Amino acid sequence: MSRQAQADVPTLSVDLYSRETLLNPVQTYCRIRRQAGTAVWLPKHALWVMGRYRDVRQALSDDGTYRSGNGVAANPFTNALSAGTTIASDGDDHVKRRRLLWQSLSAKALSAVDPVLQTEASALIEKLCRREDFDGVSEFAACLPIRVVADLVGVDIDHNRMLKYGRAGFDVLGPANRRTLKAARAGLSFWHYARSLRTKNVKPGGWAESILAAGRDHTVSPAEAKAMVIDFIGPSLDTTILASAQLLWSLGANPDVREELRHNPDLVPATALEAVRLGSPVRGFTRIVKQDTEIDGVVLRGGQRVVLLYASANMDETQFEEPEVFSLHRKGTNLGWGFGAHACVGMHLSRLEMHALMRAMIPEVANISVAKPVRLFNNTLQGFESLRATFRGSAMTGSGGGGVGTAARRKRNPALITRSAPRTAA
Ligand code: HEM
Repeated sequence: MSRQAQADVPTLSVDLYSRETLLNPVQTYCRIRRQAGTAVWLPKHALWVMGRYRDVRQALSDDGTYRSGNGVAANPFTNALSAGTTIASDGDDHVKRRRLLWQSLSAKALSAVDPVLQTEASALIEKLCRREDFDGVSEFAACLPIRVVADLVGVDIDHNRMLKYGRAGFDVLGPANRRTLKAARAGLSFWHYARSLRTKNVKPGGWAESILAAGRDHTVSPAEAKAMVIDFIGPSLDTTILASAQLLWSLGANPDVREELRHNPDLVPATALEAVRLGSPVRGFTRIVKQDTEIDGVVLRGGQRVVLLYASANMDETQFEEPEVFSLHRKGTNLGWGFGAHACVGMHLSRLEMHALMRAMIPEVANISVAKPVRLFNNTLQGFESLRATFRGSAMTGSGGGGVGTAARRKRNPALITRSAPRTAA
C-alpha cells in the first residue's frame, strides 16, 4: 500500500524508533493512544501501530487475521531470515514448533531448575550485600540468565557472544534504520551460527540438542530445527535481564512497596508481573493483516503491517489506574509477555528467575538504593543499560550489609533516587 493511498486515515508523524522516542517512550505511547485512535498510520515507517490495551489484546487473540508467518519484524530482510522460527510461524507449523519448545520450558520440565536458580540467587544476594554498590544490570539482573539459563540452552558460544547475538536479534527487528543496519552484521553472524549448528557443537542434554534431535527424527525439518535454536538463544537472556533490572529499580524507588513485599512474600508473583508491566522489556512486534479489516471505522488493508505495542498497552490508563505507579494489587493480565497463540513460551522460566531473586532478597536486604539508570537503546527492547544500586543488609538476619546507607550515598551521588514516581525511568 502506497503512502499516498493512506491519506484519509488517522496518521501520526512520529518516528517510533528514534533516539528521542526511545529516550521518552511513555510520551510517544500516550500520543498514539490518545490523539490518534484504534489504529494509526505512521507515514515515516509505512506501518500501522496499535497502542491501546483493548486493541492490542484483541489483535493478539485474532491470529487468523494478524499473521506472524511472514515474520514479526518491521523490515523485510529480517523477516526473510527469521523463517523457520516459532515466533515467525502460523497455524499447524506454529503449534508443532511451540509444542517442541514447551518440552523444555513447561513448569514440569523446569521443576529441577527452580532449586538451582534459588541457590544461585541466594549466593548472589549474599555477595552483593557485602559490596558497597554494584551494577544492577550486569551484576544483578544478568546473573541467573547467564549462570543458569545460558547453560540450559547448551550451545558452544560464550555468554558474551550469546548476549551480543540476542541483543542484535532484537535490534534487527526494527525498520531499516541506522540501529538495524549497525546490528545487521551481528544479526547475520547469529543466523549463520544457527544454520551451521551440528549436534557435536551443542551440550548433551541441553535445549538446543533436543531441538536438533527433533530435526533428525523428522518432527520438524533439519532446517527448521536449526532456525528454532534461535527461539532459545534470542529471547532467553536480555528479556529477563531487563525485567529483573526494572524489578530492582522499582523496589529501590518505592520503599513502601518493598516493605509490603518483605512483610508479605505471597506478593512475589504479583511483583514480578508488575515489573514486567511497567518495564515491558519487549516494546512490540509486528503482524501482517491477512485481509482488509475494519476496526472502529478504520480499514487496514490486507498485506499491510501493524506494530502491536505491548509497552503502550501496558501503560493504558483506561486499563490500569495510575499506570505509572508500581502497585502490587492490580487485577487482570498485562501484555508484557504478549497474549494469545504467541504468548511468551519462556514466561514461566522468566518468572521463576525473578521469584528466586526476590525470595533471596526478602530476608537479606532491608534497603535498596538506586541511582538514575542509563537507558538502553534498542529497536525492540526497552529498559536499562546500567543502573548503580546498593543493598543494605537486614538487621533481622544479622546480614552484614556492607553497602553504605541511603543518606550517606545521597551526598556522594546527587542523582540517587530514593523515591520518585516510577515512570519508566529515563
Ligand atoms: C521477562 C522476560 C520475557 C519477556 C518480557 C518476553 C516477552 C515476549 C513477548 C511479548 C512475546 C510475544 C511474541 C509475539 O506476540 O509475537 C514472546 C514470545 C516468545 N518468547 Fe518471550 N519473553 C521473555 C522471556 C523469554 C524467555 C526466557 C524465553 C526462552 C527461554 C522466551 C522465548 C520466547 C519465544 C520462543 C517466543 C515465541 C512464542 C510463540 O511464537 O509462540 N521468552 N516473549
